[in-house]
Amino acid sequence: MTILVTGGAGFIGSNFVLDWLRGSDEPVVNLDALTYAGNLENLASLDGDARHVFVRGDIGDRALVDTLLAEHRPRAVVHFAAESHVDRSIHGPGEFIRTNVNGTYTLLEAARGFWSTLPEAERAQFRFHHVSTDEVYGSLAPDAPAFTETHPYEPNSPYSASKAASDHLVRAWHHTYGLPVVTTNCSNNYGPFHFPEKLIPLLIVNALAGKPLPVYGDGRQVRDWLYVGDHCSAIRTVLERGRPGETYNVGGWNEKPNIEIVHTVCALLDELRPDPAGPHARLITHVKDRPGHDRRYAIDARKIERELGWRPAETFETGIRKTVAWYLDHADWVARVQSGAYRDWLQRHYGETA
Ligand code: NAD
Ligand code: TYD
Repeated sequence: MTILVTGGAGFIGSNFVLDWLRGSDEPVVNLDALTYAGNLENLASLDGDARHVFVRGDIGDRALVDTLLAEHRPRAVVHFAAESHVDRSIHGPGEFIRTNVNGTYTLLEAARGFWSTLPEAERAQFRFHHVSTDEVYGSLAPDAPAFTETHPYEPNSPYSASKAASDHLVRAWHHTYGLPVVTTNCSNNYGPFHFPEKLIPLLIVNALAGKPLPVYGDGRQVRDWLYVGDHCSAIRTVLERGRPGETYNVGGWNEKPNIEIVHTVCALLDELRPDPAGPHARLITHVKDRPGHDRRYAIDARKIERELGWRPAETFETGIRKTVAWYLDHADWVARVQSGAYRDWLQRHYGETA
């Protein structure tokens, strides 16, 4: 048996591939276009491991996806590939429509074509697992109940709108064609291999370099935070036991205002890597707010717990300590991401400049 993972060189996808192959010998075919967010160095520990087949390519390339499905005959597709950064979606929404909407459509069509040729028993076992976000539900008032799976879709950014569109396509491919899909809508992840354009890794790498820690607006926006290893275990759980056609909200039960996250990271760095120039919190700088910035996200993750028995293993305190320690121990990874050297291998392997 084999699974096909898309976007497996990105932050969550690479954590998932590593986690999968730590717990199982079932091979992974990893299809990733290696945009700026894809970093094969995340998977360096799998070099020479026959269980990991990496294919550089676009999910929107129907011929390529058809070939991979026919050749490897996966029992499941786990779909991470996406443009994922809200700020980039504000500056350039086109790529978000291309990959998140059109790319997901192409992948669904290819999966449907392959699935429809399978013998009856394999058809029933097949899964298309779509990895999505809580941002599709829009913004919550301060005292409103957390998002359940039946909360209306009210996306506010080009990123969340493109993910909402992909969620709708996935739902329709189940209802219309019977494709056995499952969707997970997860809150903000953090952990190893997180590209330092997102809040938590940006804070860590800027603080270590003595650079300003940019806080958008008043910093009172609230997010729910989930350690990436817990997201991986939730996906494994839903893939194995989730009911086709269902969606599951995944969260860490860790609702926190951004400014509290900033102070927590500063305090951990003060403890683990004190700066002779003074407490890291001196670097906090309030900057202009993100346009259309959602005020609050919160996840009600009771359905996945009730139906499938999944709960996060990490608290925010244990997860953030592990994460800060990982960045301190992986200064080389950070330096190569920041200098762009992580893209050198493209030239080595393909004779291209990235
Ligand atoms: P990421 O930006 O770190 O990685 C995305 C990966 O997809 C990269 O390796 C990139 O090269 C690849 N990719 C992009 N376009 C592609 C294309 N057209 N064809 C093939 N590969 C392509 O993203 P992430 O943070 O790891 O998020 C993974 C998934 O999880 C996304 O679907 C995202 O919407 C979802 N999600 C993320 C979070 C979060 O906090 N990061 C939370 C909930 C859901
Ligand atoms: P981010 O990590 O970009 O995730 P998302 O926008 O998908 O939730 O941002 C998390 C929160 O942190 C969000 O409210 C925006 C805020 N933020 C800052 O205040 N400063 C920053 O430099 C960044 C990148 C984000």
